[in-house]
Amino acid sequence: MFSYPVIPYPMPEPVSTWASQVDWINALISDISLFCIFGITGVMVYLAVRYRRRSDHQPTAYITHNATIETVWTVVPTLVVIYLFSYGFVVYREMRTPPANALEINVDAYKWRWEFQHSNGKKATTELVVPLGRPVRLIMKSHDVIHSFFVPALRVKEDVVGHIYTYLWFTPTKLGEYQIFCAEYCGEGHSAMLGSLKVVSPEQYDDYVLDRTAVELAPFDFGKKLFTEKACLTCHSTDGSPAIGPTLKGLFGRKENLEDGNTVVVDENYLRESILNPEAKIVRGFTQTKMPQFPGISDKEIAGLIAYMKTLS
Ligand code: CUA
Repeated sequence: MFSYPVIPYPMPEPVSTWASQVDWINALISDISLFCIFGITGVMVYLAVRYRRRSDHQPTAYITHNATIETVWTVVPTLVVIYLFSYGFVVYREMRTPPANALEINVDAYKWRWEFQHSNGKKATTELVVPLGRPVRLIMKSHDVIHSFFVPALRVKEDVVGHIYTYLWFTPTKLGEYQIFCAEYCGEGHSAMLGSLKVVSPEQYDDYVLDRTAVELAPFDFGKKLFTEKACLTCHSTDGSPAIGPTLKGLFGRKENLEDGNTVVVDENYLRESILNPEAKIVRGFTQTKMPQFPGISDKEIAGLIAYMKTLS
């Protein structure tokens, strides 16, 4: 059955479970349309020529009807249309009925970008990563005008609007990277509102989703996590108790006496400097043990640590 169509229509590579069925019904409808256009036009032209008026006095033939022909051209198209409807309905019903175990991903549309949020909070802009062979349900909402989420390779498209959630689902069947379009004119950036669907192995997906860095966490949470990871607590208490280094309790805004006789009011820049270069301004009485340096620490990590330290009042 699927060796059809007769005429190959140019379609992107099919990468969802129903893509071949969508292509099949699409090709069938297109072929029937072509057959009707050329069949009807051809017969019309032939008959016009064949039965043209040959002289000024030729009488017009008196033809009433032909029951056989009329029955055939009523019954055959009706059956064809019923078939097209039934086939389309079965596939459509499947496309609108996500399985209960589908992986849910939120899609947020903005002028002019796509944002994706996975169930554990992992966020991504433009790039939608999904695991191979697993049903995925997208829960979509717009934050401004109407957009439309379209992945030709999956044969799915759905409007994304502001006042309700719309959804679509699919099961990717092939690893690779596929184009995401916005298919609803949404302003001057519409044509640039692109994205890419990345189908990866389930293991790669797990790694991807679990890799939550500073982008997804609030700076405070990120800083708190780093505080543990980098073992800051080894030398700095957070409850005011004495330790190898100054306690961080109530540190922010505090006036510190330094080893060189100066004083400093602890602000963001002092904390930043002390993380990057612990030797720069040593608090009086803490020369015994040097604080280790953290080469490669990022601005985001520093901002996170500062945000966390501010809360230790
Ligand atoms: Cu968004 Cu077009």
